[in-house]
Amino acid sequence: RNIVHYHEVGSTNTVAKQLAERGEREGTVVIAEKQTEGRGRLGRRWESPYGKGIWLSIILRPRVATDAAPSITLLAAVAVAKAIKNFCGLEALIKWPNDILVRGKKVCGILTEMKADMDVVEYVVVGIGLNANLEVQDFPEEIRDKATSLRILLNKKISRVNLVRKLFGEFESLYNLFREHGFSPIRSMWKEMNTTLGQQVQVNTLTSVYSGLAVDITEDGGLVVETKEGTKVFYGGEVSLRK
Ligand code: BTN
Repeated sequence: RNIVHYHEVGSTNTVAKQLAERGEREGTVVIAEKQTEGRGRLGRRWESPYGKGIWLSIILRPRVATDAAPSITLLAAVAVAKAIKNFCGLEALIKWPNDILVRGKKVCGILTEMKADMDVVEYVVVGIGLNANLEVQDFPEEIRDKATSLRILLNKKISRVNLVRKLFGEFESLYNLFREHGFSPIRSMWKEMNTTLGQQVQVNTLTSVYSGLAVDITEDGGLVVETKEGTKVFYGGEVSLRK
């Protein structure tokens, strides 16, 4: 496996995309101790202080149509949730599409970016930001009630190297499963670990806000919501769980 390690970088996703553009092979991982321009979904910033988290991006070249790309994000979320469960013994749940929550707070986010040619995926960059050893004061005040770290949850520092090893192991076996059998076995696992289905949700898309009951995910990873206006399927947007 090819691993590119940085002490400090703008964003591992940006570097991984540049490498992928230059033909870097599938499986290459860009990992950094610190990101100065860590990016989250929906144009947000991702706090990535030095040595405290797992900030990495994986280059993939799945031979699939662009429709299948959202399922890669869900695959990554299952891999992270399994790694957290097996390595830390914590119950990790997935909030659609890509947030990993422990005890209702976010410990990990995933940012998937892809390039396609016609309707075929050329490469996918899966960016994983896992709050491993952050302390309360490492989080900006406004997200302290929503975000947490494994260290805070376990009350001890964890070995990032061992956790990353576990994560790569889980990711690799799920990705092999995906290549052989498609998304459906991963979809079942995702459904076992999710905290979105069966809940009243609000989905904010770029143009509208919808509320309804989240009932399922489709064969290509979309979220199915029963709204007043009928059944809708979402592939993006921001989902909040209404308590
Ligand atoms: C989110 O929940 O909004 C997604 C956060 C993704 C953060 C990771 S950290 C490694 C990679 N590089 C980035 O700039 N972002 C992703």
